[in-house]
Amino acid sequence: MPNRRQKVRPLFLLWAMLSTAPAQPLPTPPASAAEAARTLGDPLFPGLGQLGLDVRHYDLSLTVERPGTPGLRGAVTLTLAATRPLAELRLDFLGPAVSAVRWNGQPAPFRVDRTAGKLSVTPPAPLRPGQTARLTVEYRGLPGEVLDPDFGVAVRLGWQSVPAAGDRAGANFTLSEPNGTHTFLPSNDHPSDKATFTTRLTVPAGFAAAASGVEGPVVTGANGARTFVFTQAQPIPTYALGLFVDRFERVTAPGVPVGKGGAAVLRRDYFPVGTPPNVRAAYARTDEMLRVLSGWFGPYPFGAYGVGVVTPRLPALETATLSTMPLSMSTERTAVHEIAHQWFGNDVTPARWADVWLSEGFAAYAELLWTESQGGDGQAYAARWHANLSRAGTRPLVATQVSQLFDLSAYQRGALALHALRAAVGDTAFRAFLRAYAARFSGGTIDTAAFLAFARAQAGPAGEAALREWVEAEELPPLPVVVAR
Ligand code: ARG
Ligand code: ZN
Repeated sequence: MPNRRQKVRPLFLLWAMLSTAPAQPLPTPPASAAEAARTLGDPLFPGLGQLGLDVRHYDLSLTVERPGTPGLRGAVTLTLAATRPLAELRLDFLGPAVSAVRWNGQPAPFRVDRTAGKLSVTPPAPLRPGQTARLTVEYRGLPGEVLDPDFGVAVRLGWQSVPAAGDRAGANFTLSEPNGTHTFLPSNDHPSDKATFTTRLTVPAGFAAAASGVEGPVVTGANGARTFVFTQAQPIPTYALGLFVDRFERVTAPGVPVGKGGAAVLRRDYFPVGTPPNVRAAYARTDEMLRVLSGWFGPYPFGAYGVGVVTPRLPALETATLSTMPLSMSTERTAVHEIAHQWFGNDVTPARWADVWLSEGFAAYAELLWTESQGGDGQAYAARWHANLSRAGTRPLVATQVSQLFDLSAYQRGALALHALRAAVGDTAFRAFLRAYAARFSGGTIDTAAFLAFARAQAGPAGEAALREWVEAEELPPLPVVVAR
């Protein structure tokens, strides 16, 4: 987009003419390289992101020539805005070799720093607040390596390749939470900078591809290669972008009217050819789960929902509109957990990694709500969490170390915080709270302090106090009791 002229407001002119003081130049923040080097300063991931950068949209084209091998070819155009002048753009990137960079269509100088995990681009002029620009990056080769901070050396995050074995074809998919997306996508790879996505995946004949969002028409090219296009129209955090390539069977079902204003949510699941019936069975009740959860949380935030089943033993992940479900994690409990993350995690997103309990605690609590909807004993479920925590030990909910991001406290203590709120205010007010919270922060981000402030406004001082004890206490608070209706 062309530069927008700075508008001088008439009142400002009047003030300037009447003012007797000598005119002071307006302070302009520097647009220096040192300024550009400033990251988002996440306490747990200090290297991630660029301060002042706002990526609005990623338009990504990826070609996977040999599914099951790690190589890929990509071209992405980012729509950028800035909240402070940026003389240099510093994207997180550890991916394949960069062959070209363009700024608004014109070749631009760039530098790859693999130690810092950054791709730096110098635009012809600083990007200033109020402007937008298009930054295109073309790349090809092997994805980078980010080890899961949680699982140590065992799990590589980001772009995954599953080699062909026996009669199984090769496959690829993404598993990025918390910081794996920049192994395959130049990005502002931090949850505080959510964006929309258009994704085009080109795969050889016989393969299918899927991604977060609503699918468009499939285009067939040379040698039967096909390009699948997906539009993720609501902003999501970068880690929640899901991409899948396999010999998939795509199973569709009628839409479920749980979207905004009763809109139908598209339903499709992707099962690798040969997925056994007991795995598919875990996803047989997705429609009912969507209905039960939207009863508590309000309208489902996106245009589609389903699962992409993958074969490696890995954690499940709530990739937007299309959860990543390993065979080994294909249980009803995990299924409902990942659906809940579409509201809490993907639509209402913790702004810092330290606040990830706001994702995991809500998703864990959805397991209890689902159990109750099936006639199960929710209080017994909560009591098990409490027993687990008193056995294993616990901590205040805001994480201070990377090893705490996905620990028992994030999930089960986080869930018990919500149980405590429910016990304090009753089911009707609890439901109203959940719906108001999801609606208020839909599409945005939240941290623990803002969450507690919202709780005080919505659920009153007693509700806030109940939550706060669970957020802050060093010791494990007593088990909250929700009396069955
Ligand atoms: N958010 C995932 C879930 O549904 C867990 C991801 C775990 N990630 C990790 N790097 N250990 O619970
Ligand atoms: Zn989770």
